Amino acid sequence: MAEIDSERARRIIITGGAGFIGSNFVHHWSKKYPKDRIVVLDSLTYAGNRATLEDLENLENFRFVHGDICDRPLVDQLLKQENIDSIAHFAAQSHVDRSILGPGAFVEANVVGTFTLLESFRQYWLESGQPKHYRFLHISTDEVYGSLGPSDPPFSESTAYSPNSPYSASKAGSDHLARAYYHTYALPTIITNCSNNYGPFHFPEKLIPLMIINILQGKPLPIYGDGQNVRDWLYVKDHCQALDFVIHSGTPGQTYNVGGNNEVKNIDLVYLICRLMDELSEDLPVKPAENLITFVKDRPGHDRRYAIDASKIRQELGWIPETTVAEGIRETILWYLENQKWWRPLLSADYQAYYQASYDQKFI
Ligand code: NAD
Ligand code: DAU
Repeated sequence: MAEIDSERARRIIITGGAGFIGSNFVHHWSKKYPKDRIVVLDSLTYAGNRATLEDLENLENFRFVHGDICDRPLVDQLLKQENIDSIAHFAAQSHVDRSILGPGAFVEANVVGTFTLLESFRQYWLESGQPKHYRFLHISTDEVYGSLGPSDPPFSESTAYSPNSPYSASKAGSDHLARAYYHTYALPTIITNCSNNYGPFHFPEKLIPLMIINILQGKPLPIYGDGQNVRDWLYVKDHCQALDFVIHSGTPGQTYNVGGNNEVKNIDLVYLICRLMDELSEDLPVKPAENLITFVKDRPGHDRRYAIDASKIRQELGWIPETTVAEGIRETILWYLENQKWWRPLLSADYQAYYQASYDQKFI
């Protein structure tokens, strides 16, 4: 098992820290390492929400910077000014359906943005004398591996890349850059490829929050295709713990796959959400909620199955996911019921326009 280096106080930039996983990670890090300096760099796209971090804004060790990872002078300046030693890079365009509607933004944020950060960090690391403890953690996805058949073995770190959507292709491009910067320049990059996350602060466009919120509004629950697609669900807090282990004890130049060991068919997951919503919410407009389930036209190029073999991170760093889907979904539903002030403003005119553009053609 790797040595744990959690004694060193770090000075970390967290890109995309106002998004779903990034904000959970900021909360995790701030609570666990209160002496560390945290600088969030986020351009506040539709998916970024500064209110998610409002409880941290007055902490001395916390700074929020509203800016773009593609802005090289800004990144150069922040690295020096804040004397940064680590980057946890979450910032990205992250929704597959949006990448089908408009792939350009994905190439810009995911490929050009990652390249800009890597170049800036490389120059800064060289000027700093190439310190050994510096880290560039590139957070990526299992979607870069493509789609599995029903009896294929899960994705391992040596599975060939085969991305199928503009989103996963842009993430694959950024992974290749992060990997190449280690091999060519010895920049201490580490890549993680993770399965589907869920939990608090998840933007309503994604399957789980979308189902919870549509049930509360009595709206149809759109299931793509036959609903038999499989995802490997991981509670976001377990993911944050995995990333913590990787930053402190992971080996530069390595990739770690992170997964929940929780393979579930979409339709089964939605039935579970419906049952829990019937139980946990008293005044639903339609009860039982499963009456809202509606099969719609499939997502183009829809990957059939994802599953992660997380044995490397378990064996080398001692990480295991602790939350079962049944526990995690219950927690998540309770969070959405108790935090309507967080998600209701997100159902803006822009969101409705996206919803129409994405779903009108599916409800046929
Ligand atoms: P998200 O869409 O919720 O948040 C992305 C954040 O990045 C937002 O705050 C947004 O404002 C910010 N951002 C986007 N472009 C930016 C730019 N150019 N400059 C600065 N900030 C920018 O995404 P998420 O679901 O939290 O995913 C975070 C990362 O984890 C992504 O890289 C994603 O590919 C990866 N990932 C996500 C999942 C998942 O299930 N959500 C699973 C595996 C990996
Ligand atoms: O696997 C990791 C990936 O998981 C991340 O890299 C992505 O950023 C993240 O968005 C997620 O991608 P998915 O496409 O798997 O997630 P999404 O929530 O969009 O969809 C989950 C499954 O549910 C997928 O099979 C499509 C289906 N679905 C989704 C929506 C939004 C529906 O059937 N209906 C829907 O309305």
